[in-house]
Amino acid sequence: MRESFGFGKTIILGEHFVVHNKPALVAALPLKTQAIVVFNDSDQLIFTDNRPLVHGFIASKTAAYSQMLENILIFLKISQRNFTITVSGDLTVTCGGIGASAACAVSIIKAFDRLLNLNMNDATINDAAIFAESAIHGTPSGIDNTAATFGGIFEYSKQGGLTQINIAQPIKILLVDSSKQTDTKSLISKVNKFLNDEPDKSADIFNRYTTVFNSGLAAIKAFDLALLGQCMNQNHELLQKLGLSCTELDYIVNKAIELGALGAKLTGTGGGGLALILLPDDSDVQKKIKNFFDSNNFFIIKSELKSLKNKA
Ligand code: MEV
Repeated sequence: MRESFGFGKTIILGEHFVVHNKPALVAALPLKTQAIVVFNDSDQLIFTDNRPLVHGFIASKTAAYSQMLENILIFLKISQRNFTITVSGDLTVTCGGIGASAACAVSIIKAFDRLLNLNMNDATINDAAIFAESAIHGTPSGIDNTAATFGGIFEYSKQGGLTQINIAQPIKILLVDSSKQTDTKSLISKVNKFLNDEPDKSADIFNRYTTVFNSGLAAIKAFDLALLGQCMNQNHELLQKLGLSCTELDYIVNKAIELGALGAKLTGTGGGGLALILLPDDSDVQKKIKNFFDSNNFFIIKSELKSLKNKA
């Protein structure tokens, strides 16, 4: 029987651009949220959140999560409410950027599928998850729920869906939390306003992104991590121009590059949340970067990005 989990994710290239129909490059993390759903004796939906948290769960997200649960029941056409839902796992809820709500939604949908024998396939689980996620994100591109459902490293666009990429060996990364809480809905609105107010600048930024993306996609396929890192740096600059970075994220990105990272950028929502650092092969440099952020009290996750299949 299928386990009830959803993967976290990191966006290597293309957050926000993907909302506006550009392609993005994303990887699921080997970290998951797991859910258990059981019947209870009341007529109340009970939600217990045992996921590890970096800074405590912010109150403003409680209503959005309640709506996400309601959306799941609506999509699955479940009218009863006598369920106790418990989520846990090794995916830490950071200040943003790790795909926590999508991983949560996917894990709960899979747990309902298991309890009620709904026989859902991955595509339907993914459809349910984007519907659930709209409670949190407003107009999600679908990238987070797709990573949470399917895993792997893949190219994603709203029109084309996902295309898995096989890479030669795992990619070593570090995620660093900026300690600044972020909110996807408001950052998406900020970009919409920028596109509206600055059409010429926006067109230039979006054209330049296309070049960065094409180069980055070729780089990851060829396992040219130095080039991929440069593309990440360029993507960060374009995200800065859209007003999506902040002092804290810029500090992490600049410091990582200064210490020898191959590349670094904000990942996910921006305006806070996480930075993604592409580590070089040299284990001494890896340690230097990790130790710097560790000893300066940043919350970090050292991880590896893996394709579903190794390259033949
Ligand atoms: C959030 O992880 C990524 C965004 O591009 C929103 C989305 O694609 O739904 C900011």
